[in-house]
Amino acid sequence: MTRRRLAQELGVVAGFENPRAPLEQYHTPPDLAAHIVHVADLQGDIEGRTVVDLGSGTGMLALGAALRGPERVVGVELDPAPLSTARKNERKVAARPDVSWIRGDATRAPLCLDDATVLMNPPFGAQTGNEHADRAFLQTASAIARVSYSVHNEGSREFVEAFADDEGGEVTHAFAAEFDLPRQFEFHDSESSTLTAEVFRIVWR
Ligand SMILES: C[S@@+](CC[C@H](N)C(=O)[O-])C[C@H]1O[C@@H](n2cnc3c(N)ncnc32)[C@H](O)[C@@H]1O
Repeated sequence: MTRRRLAQELGVVAGFENPRAPLEQYHTPPDLAAHIVHVADLQGDIEGRTVVDLGSGTGMLALGAALRGPERVVGVELDPAPLSTARKNERKVAARPDVSWIRGDATRAPLCLDDATVLMNPPFGAQTGNEHADRAFLQTASAIARVSYSVHNEGSREFVEAFADDEGGEVTHAFAAEFDLPRQFEFHDSESSTLTAEVFRIVWR
């Protein structure tokens, strides 16, 4: 399946019904999710692997991975409401294998793994002033993954590289991505805004 076809398949994935600002609940656009999964697949990080989506929301990244032949896929999400949407999305996408959806705190390593591929678009901390809320997610990735792909806000490269270095990891790929964020929270003052994000592939050992 081409990257474009993957993005089309992911176009049916519904987003958050009642997004919660403190959890930074906005979903990854299908194009960006398809781009991340495609790059990961080309690197041999999806097929036959255990893929974990930390902060899986309504399932965009987990379902994208499930469409590229992994051995198993796990989605970990704190909030039960998007997990329920994710299950409905899974039926729409009809990917195999089934995704294991787990309600849990992604920052507390709820999984006994050390060789997973982690895909994640974690909270940035941008809304709460809690800069680098993504740090705890990276900590979990370093504990359970051989390789991770993570989306961060613009200007995170120095932080991500330093974090990876401290944990014995290495950033092997980085790319920028722009996407439109529709108005969904009260503090958004325009109908949509363009967010520039940075995506990093980190090999953890
Ligand atoms: C930016 S959204 C990304 C959602 C989804 N992965 C996607 O790509 O569309 C961040 C997600 O992380 C979840 N989240 C925030 N803190 C969490 C935590 N401590 N443990 C698990 N999930 C969390 C939010 O509820 C939200 O679904």
